[in-house]
Amino acid sequence: MEKKTKITGPIFIGRSWMEYIKMFDLDLKNLKNQKILDCAAGASSFTSYMHKQDFEVTAVDLIYDKSPEFLQLRCQKHLQALIDALEKMKQEFVWTFFHNLDELKKHRIKSCQDFYQDYKSGKGKRYLKGDLTNLPFDDNSFDLLLCAHLLFIYDHRLSEEFHHKAVEEMMRVTRKELRLYPLVKHKGLKSTMVEKVTNSLSDNYEFKLVKVDYQFRPGGNQMLVISKK
Ligand SMILES: C[S@@+](CC[C@H](N)C(=O)[O-])C[C@H]1O[C@@H](n2cnc3c(N)ncnc32)[C@H](O)[C@@H]1O
Repeated sequence: MEKKTKITGPIFIGRSWMEYIKMFDLDLKNLKNQKILDCAAGASSFTSYMHKQDFEVTAVDLIYDKSPEFLQLRCQKHLQALIDALEKMKQEFVWTFFHNLDELKKHRIKSCQDFYQDYKSGKGKRYLKGDLTNLPFDDNSFDLLLCAHLLFIYDHRLSEEFHHKAVEEMMRVTRKELRLYPLVKHKGLKSTMVEKVTNSLSDNYEFKLVKVDYQFRPGGNQMLVISKK
């Protein structure tokens, strides 16, 4: 029997550039001449796509010191583990962006391949190793920061202190805005960290909940936009 992969840390996969556009309600014509940073970018194809379109995008992730081959293999393994898990819980998700598991699988394999191709030439340039709580950038280095599928979904593993530090650190390096998605864990449960983080940082930042045209987890059709006061 084929051995199943057991995932212990955050999963290394990536949403596609099209999912990013929808999750973060991005309008490409407003992004020319904007410096964008994708935080905890994983194997997303967003940076690859945007780079090809001549946008100025950087991606940062804890394991971008690894080789392209290592990350490609990790993505393939984690993707298969995710598909196996989803097979048993299909009814817990919203099938509008993807109509079935097969579509999701093809879409995510393509993201992983696009990421791998771009990472081969962009490692150390637009793909940089970094920890969200200690980013390797000066203050106000970017216009827009995006962060998907790390904060607010691993409440059981990532502490309130981590969430707090990560948001403060991301706000340090953005000149204007940070967008976070999603705000719900599985089964549509809202992360308790959203309220904790917004309450504790409300003196310095403005927080806005914005509805977006994307949903896979039930109730996952909102992003949190944080800007400096
Ligand atoms: C589930 S993936 C999300 C990828 C992508 N943002 C998306 O939405 O598809 C989570 C990513 O967070 C990265 N990660 C975990 N802890 C991190 C940290 N402290 N700093 C930076 N990246 C981290 C992992 O390596 C992984 O690639």
